[in-house]
Amino acid sequence: MQMPPSIAEDMSKLKTLLHDSISPHLPVAAVKDMRILNLACGRCDEAETLIQVGSELTKGGEVEMIGADIRIREIRQARETHGHLPAKFLIEDATKIDQHQELGDDFNMVFLRHQNFWHGQELWKKIFDQGIAKLRPDGMLVITSYFDVEHRLALRALESLGMEVISNTRNKQSRALADAPGKSVDRWVAVLKRRGT
Ligand SMILES: C[S@@+](CC[C@H](N)C(=O)[O-])C[C@H]1O[C@@H](n2cnc3c(N)ncnc32)[C@H](O)[C@@H]1O
Repeated sequence: MQMPPSIAEDMSKLKTLLHDSISPHLPVAAVKDMRILNLACGRCDEAETLIQVGSELTKGGEVEMIGADIRIREIRQARETHGHLPAKFLIEDATKIDQHQELGDDFNMVFLRHQNFWHGQELWKKIFDQGIAKLRPDGMLVITSYFDVEHRLALRALESLGMEVISNTRNKQSRALADAPGKSVDRWVAVLKRRGT
């Protein structure tokens, strides 16, 4: 199924942003393969983009993505749309993802697009904490945000959980959301690592 042009453009911008934000911070030992955990992924418009970025960063290595969201309809849609990709989509409460032990805790990247910290700070702090626990020691956590204050608050919460911001970029070309002044698609993209790694 073809993406609407606006989403295709969002993806093209996100791809460049992710590549440019992450590549300077990859672990010194080359990353050969990449496991990506995409929490609260919704219908996961970004699935192919993330896999392409993973493939570029690993210079053609194997990339696997697991997407998880609590909403059944969105996950079903993601499964239908992205069935051709090396991706699995799980109906999961991300505040309890530690109970899904077979997922492992060796993800190179935990990704949260348009995290929703503003609308439930305690809930999202739990989701962040669970995501961090799924990272390899040298793994990266990447968030994007719709608006400035939420982004700042989310970064502060992640710092309180032992993470360090290593890249934080305002997407100057981000598409404004109609009827939501000050909000835009992937307005901010931040990359974090465990402090001291
Ligand atoms: C702002 S939407 C972002 C969705 C998608 N990442 C995007 O960029 O379009 C926030 C998402 O968080 C999901 N969510 C909220 N609480 C959750 C939880 N406890 N576990 C998993 N997903 C959750 C919602 O279902 C929703 O899809």
